Amino acid sequence: MEPVLIDTFGRRAVDLRVSLTDRCNLRCSYCMPEEGLSWLAKQDLLDDQEVIRLVRIAVTRLGVTEVRFTGGEPLLRPGLVGIVAACAELDPRPELSLTTNGIGLARTAGALRAAGLDRVNVSLDTLDRETFRTLTRRDRLHDVLEGLAAAEAAGLRPVKVNAVLIRGVNQHEAADLLEWSLDHGYELRFIEQMPLDAQHGWDRGQMITAEEILHLLGERFELHPEPVAGRGAAPAEHWLVAGRTGPDGSPARVGVIASVTRPFCRACDRTRLTADGQIRDCLFAVTETDLRTALRSGADDEALADLWRTAMWGKRAGGGIDAPDFTQPERLDITVAIGG
Ligand code: GTP
Ligand code: 5AD
Ligand code: SF4
Repeated sequence: MEPVLIDTFGRRAVDLRVSLTDRCNLRCSYCMPEEGLSWLAKQDLLDDQEVIRLVRIAVTRLGVTEVRFTGGEPLLRPGLVGIVAACAELDPRPELSLTTNGIGLARTAGALRAAGLDRVNVSLDTLDRETFRTLTRRDRLHDVLEGLAAAEAAGLRPVKVNAVLIRGVNQHEAADLLEWSLDHGYELRFIEQMPLDAQHGWDRGQMITAEEILHLLGERFELHPEPVAGRGAAPAEHWLVAGRTGPDGSPARVGVIASVTRPFCRACDRTRLTADGQIRDCLFAVTETDLRTALRSGADDEALADLWRTAMWGKRAGGGIDAPDFTQPERLDITVAIGG
């Protein structure tokens, strides 16, 4: 069989997002309810060797070139450093990155770098301690800032910062977040809020759109669209910030991930593995393909690769978030279990 994950629209998935746990130490309001979520049972989670085996199959038999670890909060996974180290030994070696809330990164950034992690994306929606507490329901801003600094010091570059703006909560901080990120040499991206919260509280009319984000930034900065040929498979579109330079002397930039108003599904190159061993062909998939059962019943590598190929072949054209008949995926613990 061809070593690719291809779908009926001709898209190739080369970017694997692996959720390592459904647990999190924050409770961001756009992601989780304050309480009442039940966690996956330990026996349903893939163990470290199972994760490593599936990543190896993806890289050596299916053409995956980039592996991103997510959660929940992936730093809560005890075996993370070992998983990263094993993935860094694969041939061909995939690019390895981590999307994290940053809590605990101050302690682990050096070990992760030494294990072979290339870079990190850290979620940070506010620089104000009280607002952080309101948004995440935890008083941990300081830990996140420390984590970011440690990632930069460990060379996990570029350090990207993800910010979701919520109307009436942190939208007034848009320009401050950019100023602060520029000062620290972090690459900031604003993300349109998606209907992925476990409590189904998303409201299209309340969402801060890419257009509004650019307007808010324009009050303080002069922005120019980055002159590149197309956006490729990257969810973020970039703007150059006039008069500012990045850490390496190149023009500074800010990204906007407009998943709702400017979806990038046509160029999507992603495949997802959940912490309990299910393949999702899309963040908004309504069905999953169970690899865990096959894996635990003794399927060989090629049989697992084949199941994965079949799962991706059926990928729909897009997530359809902005369509009137959009259905939010059923998993209640959605971002938490899929990793965004
Ligand atoms: P890099 O730019 O390669 O660093 O990664 P990224 O921006 O794709 O990853 P990150 O984990 O930082 O996610 C940023 C935002 O993009 C999050 O809000 C994700 O939920 C969202 N996102 C990631 N993958 C997809 C996807 O396939 N579809 C949609 N609609 N959103 C996605
Ligand atoms: N909409 C947009 N982004 C979200 N994230 C979590 N929930 C949502 C949502 N409903 C972001 C987090 C993190 C990334 C993995 O996804 O802020 O940066
Ligand atoms: Fe916040 Fe991410 Fe944790 Fe969800 S998984 S509560 S977005 S830190």
